[in-house]
Amino acid sequence: MSRIFSGIQPSGELHVGNYLGAVKNWVSLQAQFESFFCIVNYHAITVPYEPDDLRRRTRDMAIGLLASGLDPKRCALFVQSQVPEHTELAWIFNTLTPLGELERQTQFKEKSGRQEQVMAGLLNYPVLQAADILLYRADLVPVGEDQVQHLELSRVVARNWNARFAPDAPFFPEPQPKLTPTRRIVGLDGQAKMSKSLGNTIGILESPEAIWDKLRPAVTDPARQRKSDPGDPDKCPVIYQLHRAFSPPETVSEVEANCRGAKWGCVDCKNALLAPLLAELAPVRERAASLEANPGQVDELLASGAEKARVVARETLHEVKVRMGLPEQR
Ligand code: AMP
Ligand code: TRP
Repeated sequence: MSRIFSGIQPSGELHVGNYLGAVKNWVSLQAQFESFFCIVNYHAITVPYEPDDLRRRTRDMAIGLLASGLDPKRCALFVQSQVPEHTELAWIFNTLTPLGELERQTQFKEKSGRQEQVMAGLLNYPVLQAADILLYRADLVPVGEDQVQHLELSRVVARNWNARFAPDAPFFPEPQPKLTPTRRIVGLDGQAKMSKSLGNTIGILESPEAIWDKLRPAVTDPARQRKSDPGDPDKCPVIYQLHRAFSPPETVSEVEANCRGAKWGCVDCKNALLAPLLAELAPVRERAASLEANPGQVDELLASGAEKARVVARETLHEVKVRMGLPEQR
Protein backbone atom coordinates (compact mmCIF):
# COMPACT_ATOMS: atom_id res chain seq x y z
CA MET A 1 0.00 0.00 0.00
CA SER A 2 1.37 3.47 -0.90
CA ARG A 3 2.12 5.84 1.91
CA ILE A 4 0.95 9.41 2.15
CA PHE A 5 2.22 12.17 4.40
CA SER A 6 0.94 15.69 4.87
CA GLY A 7 1.53 18.49 7.31
CA ILE A 8 -0.43 21.48 8.50
CA GLN A 9 0.74 24.43 10.55
CA PRO A 10 -0.91 24.93 13.94
CA SER A 11 -2.69 28.09 12.88
CA GLY A 12 -5.56 27.43 15.34
CA GLU A 13 -8.98 27.13 13.83
CA LEU A 14 -9.43 25.45 10.46
CA HIS A 15 -11.25 27.52 7.85
CA VAL A 16 -13.34 26.54 4.85
CA GLY A 17 -10.25 27.00 2.61
CA ASN A 18 -8.07 24.41 4.37
CA TYR A 19 -11.10 22.24 4.99
CA LEU A 20 -12.03 22.01 1.28
CA GLY A 21 -8.50 22.37 -0.07
CA ALA A 22 -6.79 19.87 2.21
CA VAL A 23 -8.46 18.27 5.21
CA LYS A 24 -11.58 16.88 3.51
CA ASN A 25 -9.29 15.21 1.01
CA TRP A 26 -7.17 13.72 3.81
CA VAL A 27 -10.28 12.25 5.39
CA SER A 28 -11.07 10.33 2.22
CA LEU A 29 -7.44 9.36 1.55
CA GLN A 30 -6.96 7.78 4.99
CA ALA A 31 -9.18 4.92 3.84
CA GLN A 32 -7.04 4.20 0.76
CA PHE A 33 -3.45 4.76 1.94
CA GLU A 34 -1.26 4.22 4.93
CA SER A 35 -1.51 7.80 6.16
CA PHE A 36 0.56 10.13 8.35
CA PHE A 37 -0.76 13.60 9.22
CA CYS A 38 1.41 15.94 11.21
CA ILE A 39 0.79 19.24 12.98
CA VAL A 40 4.06 20.97 12.15
CA ASN A 41 4.88 23.08 15.18
CA TYR A 42 8.62 23.23 14.42
CA HIS A 43 7.72 24.93 11.14
CA ALA A 44 5.51 27.38 13.01
CA ILE A 45 8.39 28.68 15.14
CA THR A 46 10.34 29.93 12.10
CA VAL A 47 8.48 33.24 12.45
CA PRO A 48 7.86 35.25 15.66
CA TYR A 49 5.25 33.68 18.01
CA GLU A 50 4.06 33.44 21.63
CA PRO A 51 4.53 30.10 23.45
CA ASP A 52 1.08 30.09 25.09
CA ASP A 53 -0.55 30.90 21.79
CA LEU A 54 1.32 28.15 20.01
CA ARG A 55 0.30 25.59 22.64
CA ARG A 56 -3.37 26.55 22.31
CA ARG A 57 -3.28 26.65 18.51
CA THR A 58 -1.66 23.23 18.36
CA ARG A 59 -4.39 21.69 20.48
CA ASP A 60 -7.14 23.54 18.57
CA MET A 61 -5.74 22.26 15.29
CA ALA A 62 -5.75 18.70 16.61
CA ILE A 63 -9.38 19.13 17.68
CA GLY A 64 -10.32 20.61 14.28
CA LEU A 65 -8.68 17.74 12.41
CA LEU A 66 -10.25 15.04 14.56
CA ALA A 67 -13.64 16.74 14.38
CA SER A 68 -13.36 16.95 10.57
CA GLY A 69 -13.06 13.18 10.42
CA LEU A 70 -9.40 12.19 10.71
CA ASP A 71 -9.68 8.86 12.44
CA PRO A 72 -6.79 7.86 14.73
CA LYS A 73 -7.58 4.22 13.99
CA ARG A 74 -6.98 4.72 10.30
CA CYS A 75 -4.11 7.20 10.28
CA ALA A 76 -1.32 8.48 12.47
CA LEU A 77 -2.20 12.01 13.59
CA PHE A 78 0.59 13.58 15.62
CA VAL A 79 2.53 16.68 16.61
CA GLN A 80 5.94 17.12 14.98
CA SER A 81 7.85 17.99 18.17
CA GLN A 82 6.72 14.69 19.72
CA VAL A 83 8.69 12.73 17.11
CA PRO A 84 12.30 13.94 17.52
CA GLU A 85 13.48 12.04 14.42
CA HIS A 86 12.05 14.88 12.27
CA THR A 87 14.65 17.39 13.41
CA GLU A 88 17.41 14.81 13.46
CA LEU A 89 16.85 13.91 9.82
CA ALA A 90 16.46 17.59 8.95
CA TRP A 91 20.00 18.27 10.19
CA ILE A 92 21.33 15.43 8.07
CA PHE A 93 19.46 16.76 5.02
CA ASN A 94 20.87 20.26 5.62
CA THR A 95 24.23 18.81 4.65
CA LEU A 96 22.84 17.61 1.31
CA THR A 97 20.80 20.67 0.26
CA PRO A 98 22.36 23.27 -2.04
CA LEU A 99 22.00 26.76 -0.56
CA GLY A 100 20.90 28.17 -3.91
CA GLU A 101 17.84 25.87 -3.93
CA LEU A 102 16.73 27.32 -0.60
CA GLU A 103 17.33 30.94 -1.55
CA ARG A 104 15.11 30.70 -4.60
CA GLN A 105 12.04 29.27 -2.81
CA THR A 106 9.12 31.63 -3.42
CA GLN A 107 7.71 31.21 0.09
CA PHE A 108 11.06 32.08 1.63
CA LYS A 109 11.28 35.25 -0.44
CA GLU A 110 7.73 36.26 0.50
CA LYS A 111 8.02 35.48 4.20
CA SER A 112 11.53 36.89 4.66
CA GLY A 113 10.38 40.18 3.09
CA ARG A 114 7.92 40.56 5.97
CA GLN A 115 10.49 39.99 8.77
CA GLU A 116 12.73 42.55 10.39
CA GLN A 117 15.38 39.92 10.95
CA VAL A 118 15.39 36.65 9.03
CA MET A 119 16.45 33.59 11.01
CA ALA A 120 18.20 30.59 9.47
CA GLY A 121 15.21 28.38 10.37
CA LEU A 122 13.06 30.23 7.85
CA LEU A 123 15.56 29.51 5.08
CA ASN A 124 15.83 25.87 6.15
CA TYR A 125 12.06 25.41 6.47
CA PRO A 126 11.81 23.28 3.30
CA VAL A 127 14.62 21.00 4.50
CA LEU A 128 12.56 20.15 7.58
CA GLN A 129 9.59 19.60 5.28
CA ALA A 130 11.67 17.17 3.19
CA ALA A 131 12.62 15.35 6.42
CA ASP A 132 8.92 15.16 7.43
CA ILE A 133 8.00 13.42 4.21
CA LEU A 134 11.06 11.22 3.65
CA LEU A 135 11.14 10.00 7.26
CA TYR A 136 8.06 7.96 6.35
CA ARG A 137 9.35 7.27 2.83
CA ALA A 138 5.99 8.61 1.60
CA ASP A 139 5.21 8.37 -2.11
CA LEU A 140 2.41 10.92 -2.20
CA VAL A 141 1.86 14.25 -0.47
CA PRO A 142 -1.66 15.70 -0.58
CA VAL A 143 -1.21 19.50 -0.57
CA GLY A 144 -2.34 22.67 -2.29
CA GLU A 145 -0.53 24.19 -5.27
CA ASP A 146 1.43 26.54 -3.02
CA GLN A 147 3.50 23.55 -1.82
CA VAL A 148 4.62 22.23 -5.21
CA GLN A 149 7.98 24.04 -5.11
CA HIS A 150 8.73 22.69 -1.63
CA LEU A 151 8.07 19.19 -2.92
CA GLU A 152 10.49 19.70 -5.79
CA LEU A 153 13.11 20.41 -3.18
CA SER A 154 12.17 17.22 -1.29
CA ARG A 155 12.85 15.30 -4.49
CA VAL A 156 16.24 16.97 -4.90
CA VAL A 157 17.14 15.97 -1.34
CA ALA A 158 15.95 12.38 -1.89
CA ARG A 159 17.93 12.18 -5.13
CA ASN A 160 21.11 13.60 -3.55
CA TRP A 161 20.92 11.26 -0.59
CA ASN A 162 20.23 8.22 -2.78
CA ALA A 163 23.07 9.08 -5.17
CA ARG A 164 25.55 9.36 -2.34
CA PHE A 165 24.44 6.62 0.09
CA ALA A 166 22.27 4.19 -1.88
CA PRO A 167 23.66 4.30 -5.40
CA ASP A 168 22.48 0.81 -6.40
CA ALA A 169 18.89 0.79 -5.19
CA PRO A 170 17.21 4.08 -4.16
CA PHE A 171 16.22 4.09 -0.49
CA PHE A 172 14.02 7.19 -0.51
CA PRO A 173 11.18 7.42 -3.04
CA GLU A 174 10.85 10.81 -4.77
CA PRO A 175 7.58 12.10 -3.33
CA GLN A 176 4.93 13.44 -5.69
CA PRO A 177 2.28 16.06 -4.87
CA LYS A 178 -1.29 14.87 -4.90
CA LEU A 179 -3.22 18.04 -5.69
CA THR A 180 -6.81 18.35 -4.52
CA PRO A 181 -9.60 19.01 -7.01
CA THR A 182 -10.40 22.23 -5.10
CA ARG A 183 -7.03 23.90 -5.40
CA ARG A 184 -7.60 27.43 -4.23
CA ILE A 185 -10.63 28.62 -2.31
CA VAL A 186 -11.14 32.36 -2.66
CA GLY A 187 -11.77 34.36 0.51
CA LEU A 188 -14.93 36.30 1.37
CA ASP A 189 -13.33 39.43 -0.11
CA GLY A 190 -13.68 37.73 -3.52
CA GLN A 191 -10.02 38.45 -4.29
CA ALA A 192 -7.22 36.68 -2.43
CA LYS A 193 -7.00 33.04 -1.36
CA MET A 194 -8.90 32.34 1.83
CA SER A 195 -6.30 32.73 4.55
CA LYS A 196 -6.35 33.37 8.26
CA SER A 197 -3.78 36.18 7.97
CA LEU A 198 -6.03 38.06 5.53
CA GLY A 199 -9.14 37.91 7.73
CA ASN A 200 -11.31 36.69 4.82
CA THR A 201 -12.21 33.27 6.22
CA ILE A 202 -15.16 31.29 7.52
CA GLY A 203 -13.98 29.13 10.44
CA ILE A 204 -15.45 25.63 10.34
CA LEU A 205 -16.23 25.76 14.07
CA GLU A 206 -17.90 29.17 14.09
CA SER A 207 -21.50 29.52 15.27
CA PRO A 208 -24.27 29.61 12.64
CA GLU A 209 -24.88 33.30 13.49
CA ALA A 210 -21.21 34.21 13.05
CA ILE A 211 -21.10 32.31 9.75
CA TRP A 212 -24.14 34.16 8.42
CA ASP A 213 -22.71 37.52 9.52
CA LYS A 214 -19.64 36.80 7.40
CA LEU A 215 -21.41 35.20 4.46
CA ARG A 216 -24.07 37.91 4.03
CA PRO A 217 -21.63 40.68 2.97
CA ALA A 218 -19.32 38.30 0.99
CA VAL A 219 -18.26 39.61 -2.44
CA THR A 220 -20.13 38.06 -5.40
CA ASP A 221 -20.00 38.76 -9.18
CA PRO A 222 -18.61 42.34 -9.14
CA ALA A 223 -20.41 43.24 -12.39
CA ARG A 224 -23.79 42.57 -10.77
CA GLN A 225 -24.75 45.86 -9.12
CA ARG A 226 -28.44 45.25 -8.40
CA LYS A 227 -30.86 42.36 -8.34
CA SER A 228 -32.25 43.21 -11.80
CA ASP A 229 -28.79 42.77 -13.40
CA PRO A 230 -28.23 39.21 -14.64
CA GLY A 231 -25.24 37.64 -12.84
CA ASP A 232 -22.50 35.30 -14.03
CA PRO A 233 -22.18 32.32 -11.66
CA ASP A 234 -18.64 31.63 -12.95
CA LYS A 235 -17.56 35.05 -11.68
CA CYS A 236 -19.14 34.53 -8.25
CA PRO A 237 -17.00 32.60 -5.75
CA VAL A 238 -20.04 32.05 -3.53
CA ILE A 239 -21.63 30.03 -6.34
CA TYR A 240 -18.75 28.43 -8.19
CA GLN A 241 -16.85 27.45 -5.08
CA LEU A 242 -19.05 27.31 -2.01
CA HIS A 243 -22.38 26.21 -3.51
CA ARG A 244 -20.57 23.64 -5.64
CA ALA A 245 -18.75 22.30 -2.60
CA PHE A 246 -21.64 22.18 -0.15
CA SER A 247 -25.00 22.23 -1.97
CA PRO A 248 -26.70 19.31 -3.72
CA PRO A 249 -26.57 19.48 -7.56
CA GLU A 250 -30.27 20.49 -7.83
CA THR A 251 -29.63 23.52 -5.63
CA VAL A 252 -26.56 24.47 -7.66
CA SER A 253 -28.58 24.41 -10.94
CA GLU A 254 -31.41 26.35 -9.36
CA VAL A 255 -29.06 29.00 -7.99
CA GLU A 256 -27.22 29.34 -11.30
CA ALA A 257 -30.46 29.75 -13.27
CA ASN A 258 -31.83 32.33 -10.83
CA CYS A 259 -28.56 34.27 -10.90
CA ARG A 260 -28.34 34.32 -14.71
CA GLY A 261 -32.04 35.18 -14.99
CA ALA A 262 -31.79 37.96 -12.36
CA LYS A 263 -34.59 36.29 -10.42
CA TRP A 264 -32.74 36.01 -7.13
CA GLY A 265 -30.61 38.59 -5.43
CA CYS A 266 -27.24 37.63 -3.99
CA VAL A 267 -28.64 37.44 -0.46
CA ASP A 268 -31.23 34.90 -1.66
CA CYS A 269 -28.42 32.87 -3.15
CA LYS A 270 -26.42 33.03 0.08
CA ASN A 271 -29.49 32.03 2.02
CA ALA A 272 -29.78 28.90 -0.10
CA LEU A 273 -26.13 28.10 0.73
CA LEU A 274 -26.50 28.56 4.46
CA ALA A 275 -28.55 25.42 5.16
CA PRO A 276 -26.31 22.88 3.38
CA LEU A 277 -23.18 24.61 4.69
CA LEU A 278 -24.42 24.45 8.28
CA ALA A 279 -25.64 20.88 7.77
CA GLU A 280 -22.13 19.76 6.84
CA LEU A 281 -20.45 21.72 9.61
CA ALA A 282 -22.91 20.92 12.44
CA PRO A 283 -21.58 17.42 13.17
CA VAL A 284 -18.01 18.74 12.95
CA ARG A 285 -18.87 21.39 15.53
CA GLU A 286 -20.50 18.83 17.78
CA ARG A 287 -17.49 16.53 17.70
CA ALA A 288 -15.21 19.48 18.40
CA ALA A 289 -17.29 20.50 21.42
CA SER A 290 -17.08 17.03 22.88
CA LEU A 291 -13.30 16.90 22.35
CA GLU A 292 -12.90 20.33 23.92
CA ALA A 293 -14.71 19.06 27.00
CA ASN A 294 -12.19 16.22 27.13
CA PRO A 295 -8.66 17.61 26.87
CA GLY A 296 -7.10 14.45 28.32
CA GLN A 297 -8.52 12.41 25.45
CA VAL A 298 -6.97 14.71 22.84
CA ASP A 299 -3.54 14.43 24.50
CA GLU A 300 -3.85 10.65 24.57
CA LEU A 301 -4.81 10.45 20.92
CA LEU A 302 -1.84 12.63 19.94
CA ALA A 303 0.54 10.63 22.12
CA SER A 304 -0.52 7.36 20.54
CA GLY A 305 -0.33 8.95 17.08
CA ALA A 306 3.27 9.94 17.83
CA GLU A 307 4.04 6.39 19.01
CA LYS A 308 2.69 4.96 15.77
CA ALA A 309 4.70 7.45 13.71
CA ARG A 310 7.89 6.80 15.70
CA VAL A 311 7.93 3.12 14.83
CA VAL A 312 8.45 4.04 11.18
CA ALA A 313 10.57 7.12 11.92
CA ARG A 314 13.09 5.17 14.01
CA GLU A 315 13.42 2.49 11.38
CA THR A 316 14.19 5.02 8.62
CA LEU A 317 16.64 7.00 10.72
CA HIS A 318 18.44 3.84 11.78
CA GLU A 319 18.96 2.85 8.15
CA VAL A 320 20.11 6.38 7.29
CA LYS A 321 22.67 6.51 10.09
CA VAL A 322 24.06 3.07 9.34
CA ARG A 323 24.64 4.00 5.72
CA MET A 324 26.17 7.36 6.61
CA GLY A 325 28.62 6.06 9.20
CA LEU A 326 26.87 7.71 12.15
CA PRO A 327 26.85 5.58 15.34
CA GLU A 328 23.60 5.47 17.34
CA GLN A 329 23.00 5.37 21.04
CA ARG A 330 22.06 1.88 22.13
P1 AMP B 1 -1.97 26.37 5.73
O1 AMP B 1 -3.23 26.76 6.40
O2 AMP B 1 -1.42 27.45 4.85
O3 AMP B 1 -0.95 25.70 6.62
O4 AMP B 1 -2.38 25.25 4.68
C1 AMP B 1 -2.78 23.95 5.05
C2 AMP B 1 -3.26 23.21 3.83
O5 AMP B 1 -4.47 23.79 3.35
C3 AMP B 1 -2.26 23.25 2.65
O6 AMP B 1 -2.30 22.00 1.98
C4 AMP B 1 -2.81 24.35 1.78
O7 AMP B 1 -2.46 24.16 0.42
C5 AMP B 1 -4.33 24.24 2.02
N1 AMP B 1 -5.01 25.54 1.91
C6 AMP B 1 -4.85 26.62 2.72
N2 AMP B 1 -5.64 27.66 2.32
C7 AMP B 1 -6.32 27.22 1.22
C8 AMP B 1 -7.29 27.81 0.34
N3 AMP B 1 -7.72 29.06 0.49
N4 AMP B 1 -7.75 27.06 -0.67
C9 AMP B 1 -7.33 25.78 -0.85
N5 AMP B 1 -6.43 25.18 -0.07
C10 AMP B 1 -5.92 25.87 0.96
N1 TRP C 1 4.68 23.87 4.43
C1 TRP C 1 3.37 23.29 4.57
C2 TRP C 1 2.30 24.39 4.54
O1 TRP C 1 2.59 25.52 4.86
C3 TRP C 1 3.24 22.50 5.85
C4 TRP C 1 4.10 21.28 5.84
C5 TRP C 1 5.20 21.05 6.63
C6 TRP C 1 3.94 20.13 5.01
N2 TRP C 1 5.72 19.82 6.36
C7 TRP C 1 4.99 19.23 5.38
C8 TRP C 1 3.04 19.78 4.00
C9 TRP C 1 5.15 18.00 4.73
C10 TRP C 1 3.19 18.54 3.38
C11 TRP C 1 4.24 17.67 3.74
O2 TRP C 1 1.16 24.10 4.23
